[in-house]
Amino acid sequence: MVYDFDTMVDRTSLSSQKWSFVKQRIGDPTILPMWVADMDFAVAPEIVEAIKARAAIPSYGYTQRTDGYYNGLINWMKRRHGWDGIQRDLIIFTPGVVAGFNFAVQAYSDPGDKVIVQPPCYYPFFDAIINNGRRIVNNPLKIVDGNYVMDYEDLEKKIDGRAKMIILCSPHNPVGRVWKRSELERLVEVCEKKDIVIVSDEIHNDLILGETKHTPTATISNEAMRRTVTLVATSKTFNLAGLTNSCVIIPDRKLRCIFDNVTENNRTRNTNIFGIVAQEAAYAKGEPWLEELLVYLRGNFRYLEDYIRENIPLLKVYPLEGTYLAWVDCSCLGMGDEALKEFMLKKAKLWFDEGTMFGSGGSMFMRINLACTRNTLREALTRLDKAVRELSD
Ligand SMILES: Cc1ncc(COP(=O)(O)O)c(C=O)c1O
Repeated sequence: MVYDFDTMVDRTSLSSQKWSFVKQRIGDPTILPMWVADMDFAVAPEIVEAIKARAAIPSYGYTQRTDGYYNGLINWMKRRHGWDGIQRDLIIFTPGVVAGFNFAVQAYSDPGDKVIVQPPCYYPFFDAIINNGRRIVNNPLKIVDGNYVMDYEDLEKKIDGRAKMIILCSPHNPVGRVWKRSELERLVEVCEKKDIVIVSDEIHNDLILGETKHTPTATISNEAMRRTVTLVATSKTFNLAGLTNSCVIIPDRKLRCIFDNVTENNRTRNTNIFGIVAQEAAYAKGEPWLEELLVYLRGNFRYLEDYIRENIPLLKVYPLEGTYLAWVDCSCLGMGDEALKEFMLKKAKLWFDEGTMFGSGGSMFMRINLACTRNTLREALTRLDKAVRELSD
């Protein structure tokens, strides 16, 4: 390995949400945080160098996105995800992907309309719908043969005249699925038949740990291209969430104009200088770092699976095809959701995201962030093992 993933950046005094909230919100600094989805690893040195070089020029006024910013994304999407032909004017900036799907809700639905989600799913989807005065329609994922799949019949049944759009998570946080092309084809078919917009949150598109390749929803067919709004970013891939920068790709002119108006009305077009610099450097020079990161994350997931199989077999780990967020069924511990949360925090001294946050189907699950050093993971599993053993003592 050229890059070092065994050393963590100490963020306890850096205003890091993941680390600072342990003391501020839970009040116990001995708890190990493995919740919010960012990484404990150092950012790729190529990106750090680019930021340092720009920071050395003492002028941080209003700025423009560069050719390298756009071309980097266009080339990356073509090379890594097989999406050819993205033009620069199809890309709209948003200050983060969460802002992006909030704008999409405002753009493609009216107050009182219905927006479909597939729980268990990333919980800010729910907030975006509710906070904008729309109604949530759940199209829950099903577990078939030990893994999650979409329920197309249920989806079709639930799309009535008030349902305007679906927010898709691809790859899916928290269940770790990388949707196969054939699965996305069926989804697009239903959305086409019922004429709804697909907002495809693909923030985890580069974090592919298993065999299935990520397929951008828009590339499924011409029809998909016309109705899909794709949200991408360097933030998860390269651990840059604090730079609040993301891109929305909208090939259809009408959908793009509507979205663009929302960003204009919200006055969010100005970009963080370092977000621009970091995206350009990440897409131009970050690939070797990413390849090594993926090797390390796969190793972490294998370590977790093996450890749990050998030591805590009451827990069931779901396959992790994508993202670095393991999804673990704790129902065999035989407690309720509140008790499980207490158990993790107070007995195991671990802060995972509890499954109930992700809506229906999340009960008795924990989402474990594996973007940490192997040592941190070992420590977490040792604590968990000890706490579970004490349950039966
Ligand atoms: C599916 C999904 N979308 C969006 C985000 C956050 O995006 P941002 O920080 O760019 O707003 C996350 C973070 O975990 C995520 O998992």
